[in-house]
Amino acid sequence: MTGSILDLIATEHPAFVHVPLGMVIALPFAMAFSFKAKHPHPWKLASFFIAGLAFMGCMVALISGLLWGRQISLIPPGGFFPVVASQKQVLQKMLQLHEIAALVGVVIGLLCLILLWRSLRQDRDARHNVPTLRRRLSDRGVGLAPMLFSLLWLASWGFCGKLGGIMVFGNEETNKAAAAADQAKKNDVEADLPIRALDYASLEPVQAAPMKSKAHGNRWVRIWVTASGIADYKAGKPLPAGTYAVLSTMEDAHGKPGQELGPLYMRETLADGRVSFAFYWPRVPEASRTQTGGEDSAYWRSPSEKLQACAVCHATAGPAVRQ
Ligand code: HEC
Repeated sequence: MTGSILDLIATEHPAFVHVPLGMVIALPFAMAFSFKAKHPHPWKLASFFIAGLAFMGCMVALISGLLWGRQISLIPPGGFFPVVASQKQVLQKMLQLHEIAALVGVVIGLLCLILLWRSLRQDRDARHNVPTLRRRLSDRGVGLAPMLFSLLWLASWGFCGKLGGIMVFGNEETNKAAAAADQAKKNDVEADLPIRALDYASLEPVQAAPMKSKAHGNRWVRIWVTASGIADYKAGKPLPAGTYAVLSTMEDAHGKPGQELGPLYMRETLADGRVSFAFYWPRVPEASRTQTGGEDSAYWRSPSEKLQACAVCHATAGPAVRQ
């Protein structure tokens, strides 16, 4: 129950930030009237009331924003600010600014509230509650300092709200970044699964039966190579650009290939001649997790440093070095 209320508070962040924002817009007007009024006290009281509500609204907005950011993983769990790992993370950069502006607004809001409170206290003294129209401007109404703070509050929250709007609805920059991320994903069809390696049975098998391979965890392996590269591979030449080899594996069971499937290994010569590796082990049995650093599923691709060991033997596109 509390979970769903928290969820609601989090996801409705973009909706109820408008409450404090509206109050912060109304505040300087109420304050301005206190300068003009014959009896400024009621306008001061109204200003204090509006500022108090705005401040409470701000706190709720702050908390809901934090919850929401964590819920959608823009803010790390237990953290308060997004981590900006690269300049391409437009959203994270914007969220940082958004949070800073919100915090600045809250501090200014608090100061504004305190000054209003003090000014109301002074009104208890009858001297201050008489018509003030003939006084110097700075002595009139709520006074100039709270007025200035209310405008700064509005400026920081206005800026914060503008960034919030961009994050929710997007602008040219964020939409471009999202489109670029989409395109990068489309260009990388194997971002989530090594599709070509999984389809190894469509390639040319190099040997008819599994053989034991010390180099690959002492497993039983079969090698499969793309049709366009098989002749070169068999001749001991480098795999031509654009071709690849997959090594399917079975775990050893008492000196024979067992029922348990091992990981898939893939080696590819890219169009530019570089060698690229992949290692796919969708379900790592508990006893073998020391080999994957504790992970229960592994999908590693070049340039992952976890594949550095592969390059020790497979430094070139040619046959591997036996060790
Ligand atoms: C200790 C040396 C060594 C290491 C480390 C090694 N390999 Fe191999 N690899 C070989 C040898 C030797 C062969 C030839 C077949 C055999 O003897 O198992 C081979 C074969 C292969 C093949 C079949 C195509 C071919 O080149 O013959 C693939 C694919 C492959 N390895 C991928 C990998 C990947 C991916 C890794 C890293 C996770 C890796 N290898 C780590 C030595 C190694």
